[in-house]
Amino acid sequence: MKKFEIAVIPGDGIGKEVVPAALDVLQTVADVHGGIQFDWTEFPWNCDYYLEHGKMMPDNGLEILQGFDGIFLGAIGNPQLVPDHVSLWGLLIKIRREFEQVINIRPAKCMKGIRSPLVNPNDFDLIVVRENSEGEYSEIGGRIHRGEDEIAVQNAIFTRKGVERAMRYAFELAKKRRGHVTSATKSNGIFHSMPFWDEVFNDVKKDYREIESAAFHIDALAAFFVTRPQIFDVIVASNLFGDILTDLGGAIMGSIGIAPAANINLNGKYPSMFEPVHGSAPDIYGKGIANPIGQIWTAKMMLDHFGEDELGKKMLEVLEEVTADGIKTPDIGGNASTREVANEVCRRLKAL
Ligand code: NAD
Ligand code: IPM
Ligand code: MN
Repeated sequence: MKKFEIAVIPGDGIGKEVVPAALDVLQTVADVHGGIQFDWTEFPWNCDYYLEHGKMMPDNGLEILQGFDGIFLGAIGNPQLVPDHVSLWGLLIKIRREFEQVINIRPAKCMKGIRSPLVNPNDFDLIVVRENSEGEYSEIGGRIHRGEDEIAVQNAIFTRKGVERAMRYAFELAKKRRGHVTSATKSNGIFHSMPFWDEVFNDVKKDYREIESAAFHIDALAAFFVTRPQIFDVIVASNLFGDILTDLGGAIMGSIGIAPAANINLNGKYPSMFEPVHGSAPDIYGKGIANPIGQIWTAKMMLDHFGEDELGKKMLEVLEEVTADGIKTPDIGGNASTREVANEVCRRLKAL
């Protein structure tokens, strides 16, 4: 029996609805399979916790999390109560940084039974490898308050180590897929970091001569997501470009509510963290209609990470059967609730 200890952080808003739904599915997978067991430990760290304690997690929060095999997170953010930069840097980004989750993988593909808003989606199947530890997300910079001349400066940090690591990950991933990597750049407009990014890409690609590669400026690349997403296999992008592209990836699938993600620690020193692309969606929280597919597909990525790819594959097949049969939340054109979708996935998994 393989046992996985999972730290569960539902977080804020719909995180509190889709996480329990996805845990039911994971538990069902474990029950049906028989060879794996999950031990869940839930942590109530979110914006409510912040209001009570003045911090997003206890001072030893990271020490507590370190002992787990994986972290399963919903979403963080309740901007009406706590400014986003406080809540996100106090928990989500802190965990990504401190646990060296340097790669964020975010797939997007046509799903059975989910209509893409694209006129001609043509079965696209792509994956964005987002550099997850540096780039535009930096604490370096500052603000100068000078009345009308007030300024804010944000420094982006690109290290050869960080950029190369993301690119090598993308090339290795492409070997297992269709053998193509696209670099998201902007060397025509960003003076220092992106020409450097291109240079590293050109160096790295020499080690992968069997892999085809291309470099697109991010603005054009974003447009191609809409007009010709099928030309992409693996895309490697900086932290911010990857962030924006992957909400777009969710949108062209049919809803950002179905887009999954995994924050990967590569050196094995710390747990990886699994959280969907979407946020806490305050506009629909409490209605029971949040799409649980992003969180469930994220759970599938956690299974893949643990080497249980076969189970993960089955989960995704069942998800697609459920959507193909029209059991869907309103964001993808159905009228089912979060619970109804999850229950149906569980029912079909049990019937396998
Ligand atoms: P969002 O992703 O929460 O919502 C954007 C839109 O997508 C909303 O209309 C929402 O209703 C819809 N949506 C999102 N997930 C859905 C789902 N599962 N089912 C159906 N519809 C869904 O983005 P936002 O509004 O920019 O951010 C809200 C809060 O979440 C902010 O505090 C933000 O910082 C935070 N956020 C957190 C994470 C994270 O913790 N990983 C990610 C993104 C945003
Ligand atoms: C995401 C989110 C986060 C990010 C925010 C909430 C800090 O948008 O995971 O995509 O930008 O990384
Ligand atoms: Mn995002």
